[in-house]
Amino acid sequence: MTNRLDEIPRVRITNLPTPLVELKRLAEVLGGPRIFMKRDDLTGLALGGNKTRKLEFLLGEALARKCDAVITGGATQSNHCRQTAAAAAAVGLECHLALGGEPPAVPEGNLLLDRLFGATVHWCGEFGKGELIPKIAGELRAGGRAPYVIPFGGSNAVGALGFVAAIAELKEQLAPLGARIGHLIVPSSSGGTHAGMAVGVDFFDLDLNVIGIGIDRGEPGEPSYESELAALANEVAERIGAAPHYDERSFQMRYGYYGGGYEVVGDLEREATYLVGSREGILLDPVYAARAMGALIDMIRKGEFASSDAVLFWHTGGIPAIFLHAKDLVS
Ligand SMILES: Cc1ncc(COP(=O)(O)O)c(C=O)c1O
Repeated sequence: MTNRLDEIPRVRITNLPTPLVELKRLAEVLGGPRIFMKRDDLTGLALGGNKTRKLEFLLGEALARKCDAVITGGATQSNHCRQTAAAAAAVGLECHLALGGEPPAVPEGNLLLDRLFGATVHWCGEFGKGELIPKIAGELRAGGRAPYVIPFGGSNAVGALGFVAAIAELKEQLAPLGARIGHLIVPSSSGGTHAGMAVGVDFFDLDLNVIGIGIDRGEPGEPSYESELAALANEVAERIGAAPHYDERSFQMRYGYYGGGYEVVGDLEREATYLVGSREGILLDPVYAARAMGALIDMIRKGEFASSDAVLFWHTGGIPAIFLHAKDLVS
């Protein structure tokens, strides 16, 4: 089958390749495997993050369809919405965000940036997972606009293509590295990043075990998150002309790191943030990267990896949220 990835519409809004670095001082203190980090916190746009890779394909399709606006949604502090707002500004599309919660007196963190990028925020109260996107899209259409709808997290088959492409990028970086990386650890939440990576690993023939860390759920759910990942991966595979052979057993998830819940910073996240900050001079965001790094540290301490192993941590960004968690981080 042919590789159709290069023929799919894409806008170039990301600083690529993002650096692949070795965290030698962190590995030294943990005494486990070699640790590498893929720095998608440095994707460039709007203070970085993984969603920019998805937006290259999503906005590519929006422009190809001659849309004049985009609409997406998420939590008040959604990194995805912040990057969408910036990306839309960069390519000249009007941006509408369906955000959970109520308008605060002063917008902070990602919400401040949404405003600075000129996005229109639609406050959705209890609906913080994009539930009201279809309704708002309908209103925009009724008003004569042609909105392009991006689902919660940018996690559909188009967005996930960004992470198929990311694996091709990784493969090029691994070749001269002189280390065989066997495991990839990534925060997994709405699924596009994880599903895209799984397809990319097969498509570009990497011998890499992808382990997703559950960020916003403490168990698989019903239907299972893994079956959602499989359905998404199958759609992605079909788009690039690969075999859609995924089922829920194709995905490895860890749910044991949910702690006090989504956006709750506990000892796990705090320790990971301090360790990586003080040993490597690298910031983790408190919600995603700190939880996933906390999980990796725990797995290393439990002896899941041999000292001859090399593991890769995919830093997915989210830095603007750090200032909202000052109290939790210094307590
Ligand atoms: C910083 C950050 N990392 C990781 C993720 C998870 O990516 P996905 O939603 O594709 O599973 C998100 C999603 O919101 C995020 O904002």
